[in-house]
Parts: sequence; C-alpha cells; structure tokens
Amino acid sequence: MDRNMILIFAVDNNWNIGYDGDLLYKISEDLKRFRMITEGNIIIMGRRTFEALPGQTALPNRINIVLTRDKDYRAEGSIVINSLDELPPLLRKLKSSADKEMEVFVIGGGNIARQLIDYCNRAYITKVFKTFPADTLIPNLDLDKNWQIINESEIFSEGDMLYQYVDYVRVK
Ligand SMILES: NC(=O)c1ccc[n+]([C@@H]2O[C@H](COP(=O)([O-])OP(=O)(O)OC[C@H]3O[C@@H](n4cnc5c(N)ncnc54)[C@H](OP(=O)(O)O)[C@@H]3O)[C@@H](O)[C@H]2O)c1
Repeated sequence: MDRNMILIFAVDNNWNIGYDGDLLYKISEDLKRFRMITEGNIIIMGRRTFEALPGQTALPNRINIVLTRDKDYRAEGSIVINSLDELPPLLRKLKSSADKEMEVFVIGGGNIARQLIDYCNRAYITKVFKTFPADTLIPNLDLDKNWQIINESEIFSEGDMLYQYVDYVRVK
C-alpha cells in the first residue's frame, strides 16, 4: 500500500482519543476544521468509530470506508470492507474514477490508527491540554523519531479547554 494516507485525530495530554465509544471532547471549531479538511476526500474508519458518528450514518460529502470483520455489516452511505487487503484495490478504483485528486484520511479509532500508521506520511493532530478518563489512544508522535512537527498553530481556547493544531510529517 502507498504511504500517502493522513492521520487526523484529536488527542489529550496522553494522546488518548476516546472513552466508552465516544470522543473525549468536542470543540466546535475543531469539528468545523475537521469537516473542511476532509470534505471532498476519502475517510477510513473502524466499525466502532462509525457507530459513534451522529445518527450512525456516513459523514456527508466524503467517501466513507468502514472496516469490520462482520461480513453482513451494513453502514449507511458507506463502503464496508472486511480486511485491509481490500483497501489498496478499492483506493485505486476510487481515485481513478474521481474527477479530482483525492486524499485519504484515517479518522479513527485507535485500533485502525495503529494498523494504518505505517501507510501514513502526514498527521493533523488537535491537542487539548487536558487529561481525560479514557480507554482508547493513538501512538504519541512526539515520542516517535519517524515523525516531525512541521507546523504548530497558536493556542486557542473554547470553554475551559486550551487547544492547538499540530501538523506532523513522516521523516523516515
Ligand atoms: N479523538 C478522535 O480524534 C477520535 C477519532 C475517531 C474515534 N475516536 C474514538 O475512538 C474510539 C473507537 O476506537 P477503537 O479503537 O475502539 O475502534 P475502531 O478503530 O474505530 O474500530 C475497531 C473495529 O474495526 C474493525 N477492524 C479493525 N481492524 C480490522 C481489520 N484489519 N479488518 C477488518 N476490520 C477491522 C473491527 O470491527 P468489528 O468488531 O466489527 O469486526 C474492530 O472492532 C471511540 O471512543 C471513538 O469515539 C476518537
């Protein structure tokens, strides 16, 4: 598989991303930015993340790909695949039939991020400077010498949360 996918995640101080099937926090500006970045592109997620989407339906204006090992699973508005082996031919087909260049975003959750990180060369991480109770995390790119920060936004606030957008590239 090509190494050109992009991770896009919202993490806390410990790179946790979820608890009990849900997000740790919702920052409206971050959700807007997520929509703007991913719209018009391909998004890949695990079945558990799909089930956490509002209304359990595909995110609009994006090609939604959902991974599950359940062969009978149906995910409204989405393409369901049962193994990572199905991904390269599917992505080739989708990209070749598109009328524009499409990027491929890995949007969740922890399980899928760990399996696809080796195929990613960029990451858009929203960091909230807070520690939440959590049961799901992604690898901490700050501790991984294969990844380097290329851009850091200013620090914003919403409610009691301070947050920052940090972009990474794979260097190895
Ligand atoms: N903060 C963020 O940015 C963010 C983003 C997304 C999600 N989240 C959070 O992350 C949590 C969910 O993450 P998670 O790690 O529990 O689950 P997940 O990665 O969303 O989904 C895992 C599921 O994907 C399927 N799967 C995994 N590997 C597969 C493979 N190789 N082939 C086929 N199917 C495969 C399996 O589904 P089956 O069991 O059906 O076989 C597995 O149970 C939730 O709390 C969610 O809110 C946070």
